[in-house]
Amino acid sequence: MTWDEYFAAWQAWTHAHGGRMPPVRDQGRVTPLGRWCNQQRYLHKAGRLDPAKAARLTEAGFFAGAPAPDRAARIVTDLHDLVAEGRRFGTVYADPPWLYDNRATRAAAQDHYDGMTLDALAALPVGDLAADDAHLHLWITSPLLLQAQRLFDAWGFEYVSGLVWEKDQMGMGNYWRINHELLLLGVRGQARSFRVKNLRSVARFPRRRHSAKPEQIRQMIEAASPGPYLELFGRRTAPGWTVFGNQVQTDLFDTDTITVPAPSRQPETTPVQTPLAETWPTQATGG
Ligand SMILES: C[S@@+](CC[C@H](N)C(=O)[O-])C[C@H]1O[C@@H](n2cnc3c(N)ncnc32)[C@H](O)[C@@H]1O
Repeated sequence: MTWDEYFAAWQAWTHAHGGRMPPVRDQGRVTPLGRWCNQQRYLHKAGRLDPAKAARLTEAGFFAGAPAPDRAARIVTDLHDLVAEGRRFGTVYADPPWLYDNRATRAAAQDHYDGMTLDALAALPVGDLAADDAHLHLWITSPLLLQAQRLFDAWGFEYVSGLVWEKDQMGMGNYWRINHELLLLGVRGQARSFRVKNLRSVARFPRRRHSAKPEQIRQMIEAASPGPYLELFGRRTAPGWTVFGNQVQTDLFDTDTITVPAPSRQPETTPVQTPLAETWPTQATGG
C-alpha cells in the first residue's frame, strides 16, 4: 500500500473509532496500519518525516491523538454565509431534495421533506464554494439521471465517473424494480484522480431510513477526495464536515462503520519491525 492509502486507512479507522489510534497489535499480531502509524510518529519525532506528509498528518490531528479543531463538525443553514466568509471546499457531497414527476415517488419523498426545483438547486452558490481543484459527489436516482447534467454545468464541474450503491432490498419502479442509487462524480481544475486506487464502483450496503445514505460512502469519499468537506442537504453532522441542510440533527449517531479490526488494546509507542501487508481493509463493499 502507498503512503496515501495508509493515510486514508488511518483516517477511516480513527473516524470509525471516535478519534482513537489504531492498535499496533491485534490478538498478538502486528497490524500493518498500527505499524505504519508508529513509523510516522517515530519519523516525525526524529525529524525525518517528509514535511508535506507531516503537514497532512498534523492537519488531520494525527499527532494530537484526537481530531484537530478543524475536524469539528459545523452546521449551516445558508450557503451564502460560507461564501461571505470566503470558504472553499475541496469536496462537495450533495444529496438534493429532487422533485419527482412520478406521483408515488413524489409522495414517498414528500412525506419526509420538501423538494426543490432544478432551477433552485442550480442557483445555489456551489460553484463559489468549491475550490479551484475539487470533486463533486452527487446522488441521483434513476428517473432523474439526466437532470444531473444541469447541476454539473451550473456548479462548474465536469462529469467523469460514478458509484452504484446496491441496496439489499427491492424498491419501487414501474419498469425495473430499483435496488440501487447512483453517486455521480464531477471534477474541476486539477483534481483529476482519487487519492487512493482501491475503491470499487459498486458498493453493497443495507438500506436505512428513507433517503439516508450509508456512512461508509462518506468514509470512502474522505479517503478518495480532498478536504475540506462540504455536505449539501445532509441530516447528520460528521467530524471535519460542514453540513448544510434544514433537517440536520446533531444527536443522530449511525453505527455504520467501515470493516476494520476492533482494537484489542492501546497502541504501543515503539516502532516494530514487521513487513507491511499488501492489503488493508479500508471499505466494506460487497461483491
Ligand atoms: C434526500 S434528503 C438528504 C438525506 C441525507 N443524505 C441523509 O443521508 O440523511 C434531502 C434533504 O434536503 C433537505 N432540504 C429540502 N429543502 C431544503 C432547503 N431549501 N434548504 C436546505 N435543506 C433542504 C430536506 O429536508 C432533506 O433533509
